[in-house]
Amino acid sequence: MGVMFSHGQSSDSLSSTMRLSCTAVFFISIFFIISCHALALKPQLLGRHTIKISSDHRSLSYRTFYFDQQIDHFGFLENGTFKQRYLLNDQHWHKEGGPILFYTGNEGDIAWFCNNTGFMWDVAEELGAMLVFAEHRYYGESMPFGEESYSNAKYLNYLTSEQALADFAVLIKALKGNIPGAQKSPVIAIGGSYGGMLAAWLRMKYPSAVIGALASSAPIWQFIVPCGGFYQVVTRDFTSGGVNCSSNIGRSWKAVDGISATGEGLQWLSQEFALCSPLKSLEDVYGFKAWLQETWVNLAMVDYPYEADFLQPLPRWPVKEVCTHLRFDTGVSDKQLLHGISQAVRVYYNYSGDALCLNTSQTATGNLGILGWFYQSCTEMVMPMCTDGINDMFEPQPWNFQAFSDECFAQFGVRPRKDWAKIVYGGRNISAHSNIIFSNGDLDPWMSGGVTKSISESLVAIMIDGGAHHLDLRYNNEYDPESVIKTRALEVQYFIKWIKQAASTL
Ligand SMILES: *[C@@H]1O[C@H](CO)[C@@H](O)[C@H](O)[C@H]1NC(C)=O
Ligand SMILES: *[C@@H]1O[C@H](CO)[C@@H](O)[C@H](O)[C@H]1NC(C)=O
Ligand SMILES: *[C@@H]1O[C@H](CO)[C@@H](O)[C@H](O)[C@H]1NC(C)=O
Ligand SMILES: *[C@@H]1O[C@H](CO)[C@@H](O)[C@H](O)[C@H]1NC(C)=O
Ligand SMILES: *[C@@H]1O[C@H](CO)[C@@H](O)[C@H](O)[C@H]1NC(C)=O
Ligand SMILES: *[C@@H]1O[C@H](CO)[C@@H](O)[C@H](O)[C@H]1NC(C)=O
Repeated sequence: MGVMFSHGQSSDSLSSTMRLSCTAVFFISIFFIISCHALALKPQLLGRHTIKISSDHRSLSYRTFYFDQQIDHFGFLENGTFKQRYLLNDQHWHKEGGPILFYTGNEGDIAWFCNNTGFMWDVAEELGAMLVFAEHRYYGESMPFGEESYSNAKYLNYLTSEQALADFAVLIKALKGNIPGAQKSPVIAIGGSYGGMLAAWLRMKYPSAVIGALASSAPIWQFIVPCGGFYQVVTRDFTSGGVNCSSNIGRSWKAVDGISATGEGLQWLSQEFALCSPLKSLEDVYGFKAWLQETWVNLAMVDYPYEADFLQPLPRWPVKEVCTHLRFDTGVSDKQLLHGISQAVRVYYNYSGDALCLNTSQTATGNLGILGWFYQSCTEMVMPMCTDGINDMFEPQPWNFQAFSDECFAQFGVRPRKDWAKIVYGGRNISAHSNIIFSNGDLDPWMSGGVTKSISESLVAIMIDGGAHHLDLRYNNEYDPESVIKTRALEVQYFIKWIKQAASTL
């Protein structure tokens, strides 16, 4: 998911293109933040550390299919089709009427989401359910115009959440029509993050396709909530992660500025952080700070109670681990402070122990489609973000829609329609809908735009104490807090209730 906000102070010495990027933007993905240094918009194909962690790597068996999908569902001139990938497992499916759990794919490779949505695999047998994971157009292998899909604005024009929802609805109809026994199978949409928003919206827009939806960590209100909430949650996580933790991070920005004022300081910083490319200029320093900021955000999102390898291989409770390096007195020297920060970021970048150097162009997994998300946030998914340095541990950066829009225009030749998401998906008042579970972890920064209070008997919010980004969708794990175990059980109870409801109205 994406957002950007303007960087307060820009330096006149920056080159004009860098200045555009750096003054204008921070994009925030639902999984990762891209800041000015990454805005050259090169797709980040990131080198991965590989360490095997059992809970993330159970062997899954599914078949891969490709569905002929309409490129444009809403107009009639573009009549071409493309191959939409979906993954299917029916080993536990009760053929006559067993439910279909349908993952509404988000901004990345569907196999990766499939691997990271253990909840569906864990409950398939109990529910006698078929599992389907549908890829979102323009991500993974589902490219409407093949390799040309990202080559120009004309081809990108069909990358919208509305088209993606229509893909899902059409695919569901086809599955029910074509798979013997599936006609009577009730379908439940499941998704996390942007995928969770899509699950909720699929239920809202196509209530005849799905009987209900589980929208996990789905910030459907991020378009309309105050811009500071997201970073306040990040800060809260670090404040409770350890003594002096967020205040030391809060002081680090000025320390970086101070140290990097001299050539010798730049060299010291580059060495202290073992950077792959040494810092040379002010724009490098901007990039460096943005990379630190992304690192803290990512850590907050994936602060899971056990070792996991979602964005990076990480220890259990990684934020606490990070904070063990930042406990010192807030009066220490800048160099001591930054030494602590450099140890802290290594928790994120070198838990595997095989990082040769730290690369400030990388913060997250290459399974995510960064470029696609940029485009989506530059068109429909406009999520205002800001920091003030008072209620959060970051440098003050007000939200600046105009700068954001200009950046989008420069990158894609399109401008965002800032009110469209609210108009098309209803803003705050969604009370007319039914059968949607909104689950949120209280550690997850995205809860700031989520539905955290139940709206009606069938639009229910569940808060997960000690839960990070869509923890409930992950595999069961022996370290799971009680809260998530209860949440999953409750979610299954709702599924069963919806299935019974559907059966009684057939
Ligand atoms: C750093 O990351 C970028 C972007 O993924 C990549 O192009 C570059 O090769 C990496 N540098 C090193 C030294 O690994
Ligand atoms: C699709 O459009 C092309 C050109 O616009 C036309 O020649 C072709 O007959 C159309 N195909 C279908 C199936 O409508
Ligand atoms: C998904 O997991 C399988 C092993 O179960 C692995 O072979 C595959 O590379 C993973 N795919 C992604 C995209 O993570
Ligand atoms: C945290 O910082 C305060 C104020 O600088 C200091 O008095 C205290 O000793 C620090 N706590 C720890 C555990 O170092
Ligand atoms: C990563 O950890 C290994 C093992 O502790 C260490 O040898 C290496 O220097 C570390 N890399 C960086 C960039 O700190
Ligand atoms: C919300 O929408 C419902 C119908 O969809 C309407 O009855 C209700 O008045 C609306 N509430 C507000 C506060 O606008």
